[in-house]
Amino acid sequence: MAESAEIILDGKSYTLPVIEGTEHEKAFDIGKLRDQTGYVTLDSGYKNTGATKSAITFLDGEEGILRYRGYPIEQLAEKSTFLEVAYLLIYGALPNKAELDEFSHQITKHTLVHEDVRKIFDGFPSAAHPMGILSSLICSLTAFYPKSIDPDQSAEEINLNILRLMAKISTIAAWTYKNSQGHPLNYPRNDLDYTSNFLYMMFSFPTEKYEINPVVVSALNKLLILHADHEQNCSTSTVRLVGSANASLYGSVSAGINALWGPLHGGANQEVVEMLEAIQRDGGDTSKFIAKAKDKNDPFRLMGFGHRVYKNFDPRAKIIKKAADEVLAALGINDPLLTIAQELEQAALTDPYFVERKLYPNVDFYSGIIYKAIGIPTEMFTVMFALGRLPGWIAQWKEMRENKEPIGRPRQIYTGELERDYVSIENR
Ligand code: MLT
Repeated sequence: MAESAEIILDGKSYTLPVIEGTEHEKAFDIGKLRDQTGYVTLDSGYKNTGATKSAITFLDGEEGILRYRGYPIEQLAEKSTFLEVAYLLIYGALPNKAELDEFSHQITKHTLVHEDVRKIFDGFPSAAHPMGILSSLICSLTAFYPKSIDPDQSAEEINLNILRLMAKISTIAAWTYKNSQGHPLNYPRNDLDYTSNFLYMMFSFPTEKYEINPVVVSALNKLLILHADHEQNCSTSTVRLVGSANASLYGSVSAGINALWGPLHGGANQEVVEMLEAIQRDGGDTSKFIAKAKDKNDPFRLMGFGHRVYKNFDPRAKIIKKAADEVLAALGINDPLLTIAQELEQAALTDPYFVERKLYPNVDFYSGIIYKAIGIPTEMFTVMFALGRLPGWIAQWKEMRENKEPIGRPRQIYTGELERDYVSIENR
């Protein structure tokens, strides 16, 4: 007999079918609950709510498993490139050589942005936060590709917009950095691979030759892969929710960028570096801050430790720790902040207080360290996250459309005033 759940309300029994995913995750299907019972469910923050069925990413927080389209994140980070992973997420299968060449070629072909985008860009003050510029300019692409707002556009047109978005985000992202520095903008170099071109646009100057360091390219490639999707996190849910209203790909991704901008979501690695800087300003005594973190009456919190969905360890952190060690060794960096980071890491991995509470360093802890080591300023960290997360957002938006999901429209439990009569202003 098929598994089901029974709820009894006002003495009446209702049967809820149980849905099982391919990895045996189970859910009660409450799709007809309100119609049948008049009740809704309440789940602030949706921590117990499956908002969709998805075939893109599997995550098991208890076991520390993350897989894109069934492939373990460890294998992808070790063996593939960011564009290969982007293809996998968006189209559902690993590309063969011809498919990957064509995908890379199409993305390379679209890296230039319309010169009028540059004019909008020039209107931003140099103090503008790069995430604000990124989300505005991604949304502005609707003006340059007006067909993208048509809900009835063909699959070919959608695909063209996907390729444009994948290509142009790296140009726009690098320009946000150049803008913040008041430096001249670099145009893309189509002879370079995706990651090298991004580094070139970020760090080269017309006045000197820019050497691309393969260790940095490899670390960045891994970081982008590790961030490429993470099932129904806050920004991805935003992309799907906005997209469910038939909003365009650019508009939906722009909304996702804004969600990611929130310090509770994409801002975590920036907070890690700011915490390290605060410890350094205080004299650099990490044992003092470890003690503060253990003191429940002290508001100090260790940033970059533990994770909302990973209960034992963050599989991404294991991979990126190795890359962080390689980058630091290869660049010969001797930064006191990194020493502080290493001491905190050591304490968290060995001190029973942290071990018992499963407060292990997460992906944000190490990604902040790598970005700092390769010269990316803290304000740009979330932009780097967005660059990595883009294929995931695209894949999720595309899946939602292809599955013809209905518009998202949650209910609520109203807790306000009961009906009352309007009182004229003189009588208030
Ligand atoms: C992410 O990668 O999106 C973050 O770890 C946050 C999350 O999944 O909730």
